[in-house]
Amino acid sequence: MSARDRPPAPIVALDYPDADRALALVEELGPRCRFYKVGSELFTAAGPAVVTRLRSAGCEVMLDLKFHDIPNTVAGAVASASALGARILTVHATGGEEMLRAAAGAAGDCEVFAVTILTSMDAPAISAAWGREPVEATREVVRLATVARAAGVPGVVASGSDVAAIKGALGADFKVLVPGVRPAGSSAGDQRRVVTPGEAARLGADYVVIGRAVTAATDHRRAMEQIIEELGTPAN
Ligand code: C5P
Repeated sequence: MSARDRPPAPIVALDYPDADRALALVEELGPRCRFYKVGSELFTAAGPAVVTRLRSAGCEVMLDLKFHDIPNTVAGAVASASALGARILTVHATGGEEMLRAAAGAAGDCEVFAVTILTSMDAPAISAAWGREPVEATREVVRLATVARAAGVPGVVASGSDVAAIKGALGADFKVLVPGVRPAGSSAGDQRRVVTPGEAARLGADYVVIGRAVTAATDHRRAMEQIIEELGTPAN
């Protein structure tokens, strides 16, 4: 049985070096996906215009620039992202409570999600980066999510394997967006803490970010259809 009454909403990551390739995928997927993520690669190459083009095409946009700076600067960046029409934007939870509060306060209609720990990092990598050990990833993720919620941020980005602990600690209404999603048997690539679409649904994710599982597939439409089907029929 699903932890939620509806499946997680899929967001496809447009990790492309130019707008034309990104918009070609949007056209190819058509009604199969209407929510796209613009991250550092595409935004740095194509600028805010790509967000405007996606909005004009009727798509929702997650602007995944993972802001991490002093509160005043982050508030300005968040206000700019919100004015562009982004529905979701990201900041790093490790920026601290004051920065998170500034982000939440400047977001307007856009929802701020705080990145807890990158899904590409496992416990040894976290220990090495933060200079302390041993680090238990889930405990750190819940700690950062607690800071984010206290600052008025409505949700976090976290691994699927951390969803139950976050919702258990902070309540079902606190949102979790899950990247690092891989259909069973596919390559994890640089990701470390991955789940399948069915697991993400069963664990109660609100959104899933789908990148290479669609963009690197030979048949993009078929890959998207299979993921949508799996999100609607959670794995046991
Ligand atoms: O190709 P893949 O599905 O691994 O892509 C995951 C996407 O989600 C990338 O665009 C990456 O930047 C993003 N992301 C992530 N981990 C986070 C936050 C965002 O992988 N914690």
